[in-house]
Amino acid sequence: MPLHAARLDTLPPYVFAVLGERLRQMELAGIDVIRLDIGSPDMPPPPHVVETLYRSSQNPDHHGYSGYRGIPSFRQAIARYYQHKFNVELNAEKQVLPLLGSKEGIVNLSLAYLDKGDLVLIPDIGYPSYMQGARLAGADIHWLPVSPENHYQPDFDAIPTDIAHKAKLLWINYPNNPTGAVANLDFYRRAIDFCKAYDILLVSDNPYCEVVFDGYMAPSAMQIAGASDVAVEFISFSKSHNMAGWRLGAAVGSPTALQTLLRIKSNMDSGHFHPIYEAGIDAIDHTPQSWLDERNRIYQNRRDRILAALPDIGLQADKPLGSLYLWATPLHTDAQTYVERALTEAHVSLAPGGAYGPGGTNYLRISVGMSDERIDESLNRLKVWYSAHQYA
Ligand SMILES: Cc1ncc(COP(=O)(O)O)c(C=O)c1O
Repeated sequence: MPLHAARLDTLPPYVFAVLGERLRQMELAGIDVIRLDIGSPDMPPPPHVVETLYRSSQNPDHHGYSGYRGIPSFRQAIARYYQHKFNVELNAEKQVLPLLGSKEGIVNLSLAYLDKGDLVLIPDIGYPSYMQGARLAGADIHWLPVSPENHYQPDFDAIPTDIAHKAKLLWINYPNNPTGAVANLDFYRRAIDFCKAYDILLVSDNPYCEVVFDGYMAPSAMQIAGASDVAVEFISFSKSHNMAGWRLGAAVGSPTALQTLLRIKSNMDSGHFHPIYEAGIDAIDHTPQSWLDERNRIYQNRRDRILAALPDIGLQADKPLGSLYLWATPLHTDAQTYVERALTEAHVSLAPGGAYGPGGTNYLRISVGMSDERIDESLNRLKVWYSAHQYA
């Protein structure tokens, strides 16, 4: 067997792939593990979307390649979505590109823009694919410190000038995975001004813009005048419409950046199954706001149940206004020990904060993408376990 490519040596295994394998072994051994570590929505998509997928798949003409840029009506639906939701006008031909989920977009955009030795700016606590994409491209990472004090937003003024001059990409993500932090238009304006000043491509990864609580509405980076000159934004049906397995998302914004991304993508994939585009269009055009509100109300209720239980399980966390996560810190032990013991002793799987960057090591992430019954059971298990061990 030949030796694997050298680039794999700089690519640590994806933490959740390793964890998933470990959990599979536990399940094979007959252990019932409750997975609060994953951000996969537990509820189904709107029924009319599934119906459209089925109906469209009956059409004998819908089984061929759909084209590298997807079907025009899907691009137009994404443009309609931005107009309707954010009051942003997009050119459906030049400023919209379908993605096979935003994870694909993150890694392929990294490959499209970063060479060995190039520099990318990544918040130190963020979705792991930003760093994995950079590593796959052989690029160097400059971590931007974030903390609860600055609402998990990077301070652009604190970035050394030589670093800013060298950087090619800046990743941001609000509502944020894993912290649940949100950002307002003033933050996006500062991000765009910074990227304009230093000729950096801003990537606003925005898959949670529809997963919001307490009446909060998440803005888009594209709302800032001139954003399309320096920025792209990724959205995803995974979380907005509970369609994680469908692998459907879109990149919007800078025509140049999308064209550059397409140069990689057209050599990697050949678009989606046509019925998936049609179902995506239907999701955008015919999902009532009441469906989104009710889904978010269920998540919010779970969030509140978990928050109320935290003192009894030795954790503390801020209340997130969006995303699927609570970003918690243990009161009486380190996060790694807590995660390990919660798994092996209470059979509740939590995501270790260190997976999201060096700054995350004192934290763990709890997902609300699990049924009410299983969340309640996991909290009971953790309460029993925690009180028996009396860390307090
Ligand atoms: C911030 C963020 N970006 C991107 C993704 C990838 O989403 P998908 O590839 O399913 O669109 C996720 C998934 O959890 C995420 O949390």
